[in-house]
Amino acid sequence: MSNKMKTAVLVSGGGTNLQALIDSIDRGDVQSAEIVCVIANKENAYALERARKAGIPAKAITADFEAGALAFMQECGAELVVLAGFLSIIGKGILSAYKNRIINIHPSLIPSFCGKGYYGLHVHEKVLEYGVKLTGATVHFVSEEVDGGVIIAQKAVEVRHDDTPDVLQKRVMEEAEWVILPRAVELVASGRVQIQGRMAVITE
Ligand code: GAR
Repeated sequence: MSNKMKTAVLVSGGGTNLQALIDSIDRGDVQSAEIVCVIANKENAYALERARKAGIPAKAITADFEAGALAFMQECGAELVVLAGFLSIIGKGILSAYKNRIINIHPSLIPSFCGKGYYGLHVHEKVLEYGVKLTGATVHFVSEEVDGGVIIAQKAVEVRHDDTPDVLQKRVMEEAEWVILPRAVELVASGRVQIQGRMAVITE
């Protein structure tokens, strides 16, 4: 039997972060985790196609997401939950069943440009509106406060004056998200992340 950490991935859309994780596992960059199921809260999420192509059990749950997702994750034996482009808020049932075992990727340097209403392309629109010169991505544990849990990894990305939200989103994904999400999954799955107060202490 595999001793890899059984991981459920929750998605809403294109699934490029899911793909980055699948590819990192295939390459052997992530060795301590395996994906046991992919769950979307949208019927037509392309991420489901990506999962099926990789031979991973995948389904969309559009009604009573909380109960359905929890049941499917438990059926698959999931021990860790990764929100990889999951654009909805996780409810109390999943939060308490997986306390400190849910991680999320957010496309900004938290605590900037995060919280309610800051998701997907909107984040990059706000970054450009404000005119900051640096943005990036953050992987954090999920807590009851939206985007407020303990931070595991961050990476900064340059903002250029002629960026559009789409161009900036692509740069943040390529330079930050697809790098730090697989790395954070490996760190958590291999037991190298300890939470001490607000701080994640990482043993490299
Ligand atoms: C990613 O940029 C991810 O960081 C963001 O949505 C996009 C999903 O892309 N997530 C959030 O905004 C969460 N608050 P993907 O489906 O191609 O991975």
